[in-house]
Amino acid sequence: PVASVLELGGLKIGREDVVRDDPTNNVPDTIFSKLGMQLHRRDQHPIGILKNAIHEYFDTSYPNKFDKFDDLCPIVSVKQNFDDVLVPADHVSRSYNDTYYIDAQTVLRCHTSAHQAELLRRGHTHFLVAGDVYRRDSIDSTHYPVFHQMEGVRVFSPDDWEASGVDATSYAAEDLKKCLEGLAHHLFGAVEMRWIDTYFPFTNPSFELEIYFQDKWLEVLGCGVTEQEILIRSGKMNNVAWAFGLGLERLAMVLFDIPDIRLFWSNDERFTSQFSKGQLGVKFKPFSKYPPCYKDISFWINESFTENNLCEVVRGIAGDLAEEGVPGGPGHFSGNECI
Ligand code: PHE
Repeated sequence: PVASVLELGGLKIGREDVVRDDPTNNVPDTIFSKLGMQLHRRDQHPIGILKNAIHEYFDTSYPNKFDKFDDLCPIVSVKQNFDDVLVPADHVSRSYNDTYYIDAQTVLRCHTSAHQAELLRRGHTHFLVAGDVYRRDSIDSTHYPVFHQMEGVRVFSPDDWEASGVDATSYAAEDLKKCLEGLAHHLFGAVEMRWIDTYFPFTNPSFELEIYFQDKWLEVLGCGVTEQEILIRSGKMNNVAWAFGLGLERLAMVLFDIPDIRLFWSNDERFTSQFSKGQLGVKFKPFSKYPPCYKDISFWINESFTENNLCEVVRGIAGDLAEEGVPGGPGHFSGNECI
């Protein structure tokens, strides 16, 4: 059963506001049911713990500078999500195939960049936005149609770069890289990192940061120097700015050794009880992905018994769901993994 009225960013949102039998709507109930979850606002959840650790880095490095938002409504206009950040009219991310549309003008934000322009317009010059974002996608151990991002924006004024002797864009790009390398150190300790040039409609130049982790280069964030047009439209024509957007699940999977992105949504206390407030990087101990079944079976055997006979009887009924239990129980095939 899905709660039918949610409170999101101070607004009351009903199921009928989000899920509609209408050709301009492609939001299923399974996605509606994720809308009020706000994993990033739970201090005992890996996503919330990571958000807090990022806040802590910014609070320490830039005391009282960054305004923090983590309760902005994920229902935004097409204008906020795409137009305001200069996403071209024919960009694939606008398609019904990729984005959840509530109606032709309203979407579930597909990135926290949807709030950049509005916060700049409201006069914020240093800010962080954490929130749930939605993308139509297949589901597997590293993909889920709902995940969480942290956006950061910093605006500079002429005083900042004029004394430095470098041009405004280079100044912002250098500052951005220093800031994010510092963040990676804060979260990971000593790690190898590299910058890759890339493209985003809203930044130029644009970069991706990769970190070397368990023998692989892992893309952890996108960033760049904000397109001047975005600043001009928000009344900041004499400024430059940088922005970054970072996927919280990706980083949390690495920091906490969480092998499957679906686990973040688990209510199983074997998952939730493993994390506590402020404890970044506690290593997750895996458990069976099947629900526990607290039924023991005892039986007597004669000489003709072999373990695999029993396994075959069980698999004949349970199929591939049956896995081997913990060795050392009464018989190897035992424990609550069994069926
Ligand atoms: N919004 C981008 C994404 O979701 C990330 C990003 C944010 C890139 C800000 C540059 C600047 O992929």
